[in-house]
Amino acid sequence: MASYDDDDGARHGVRAAAVSAKGWGWRHSGRAAQAVHDLELEIAPGERVLLLGPSGAGKSTLLHALAGVLGADQDAAESGLLTVDGEHPAARRGHAGLMQQDPEAQVVLSRIGDDVAFGAENLAVDRDEIWRRVGGALDAVGLDFPLDHPTSALSGGQKQRLGLAGILAMQPGLLLLDEPTANLDPAGVLEVRDAVIRMLDRTGATMVVVEHRVAVWVDVVDRIVVLAPGDRGHGAQARRMLTEAGVWVPGYLPATRPRDGGSGTPPGGSPGIPPGGDVGGSI
Ligand SMILES: Nc1ncnc2c1ncn2[C@@H]1O[C@H](COP(=O)(O)OP(=O)(O)O)[C@@H](O)[C@H]1O
Ligand SMILES: [Mg+2]
Repeated sequence: MASYDDDDGARHGVRAAAVSAKGWGWRHSGRAAQAVHDLELEIAPGERVLLLGPSGAGKSTLLHALAGVLGADQDAAESGLLTVDGEHPAARRGHAGLMQQDPEAQVVLSRIGDDVAFGAENLAVDRDEIWRRVGGALDAVGLDFPLDHPTSALSGGQKQRLGLAGILAMQPGLLLLDEPTANLDPAGVLEVRDAVIRMLDRTGATMVVVEHRVAVWVDVVDRIVVLAPGDRGHGAQARRMLTEAGVWVPGYLPATRPRDGGSGTPPGGSPGIPPGGDVGGSI
């Protein structure tokens, strides 16, 4: 832990990223419909954002785009503008650390030390510094194995911790986490979340985390953004997720305090959450 505690954002030149989407949309190759449509979103440097939305809303697509790894191959099509620090995300790729939804897909090397070092090595970080970071990052995520421990012997939850360690070791200015605790038990979830927050406190990096368990993140993020297709069904689902986690949603009567013993439907109905709308504001 000590070596990791010594790290600090300014010393290692971590520059918190700014994100901007202006009417941004993406249609994947071979698809008729856009995965993300007409997104308006501004994230300030250092901001911590929880990104919510039903399955298929385009959350992973957005994180991949921000990481600069969405292939503009074949007949994929982009519309509008998406930037990281005012540039195309591909130009800022080394400044973003993406933890993918599938931890298996993220493991690249056969020994845990090498695997955690991989991302930082690609950024041409000094060797001594890399191994300091690797030790600190493994510590931070609670993976207590020798550096030559085989990655193939890790469980799903351990692979998730491994993936996060590799990203922490990169010290990105933009931390992108796609359901980072999905394979962990309740204690592991809080441990991993706290490792993320410690890293953010130290470096001041910007974070976008996708996670269905709102309650895990609600107290440690600055803002909640809901990606929702325009129809009311999805808006209602997003509202339910938020209110169940104790988040006040404008224009919505929390189900825990029903008026007239109601079903949780807001009186007179409430406007659906707009597509790509930001319903949370600062919380
Ligand atoms: N590589 C891909 N090729 C084609 N379609 C994709 C690809 N990735 C995602 N999609 C489609 O884009 C939409 C959004 O998916 P995704 O971004 O994974 O949503 P979420 O992460 O919110 O569940 C879905 O309809 C999905 O099937
Ligand atoms: Mg996803």
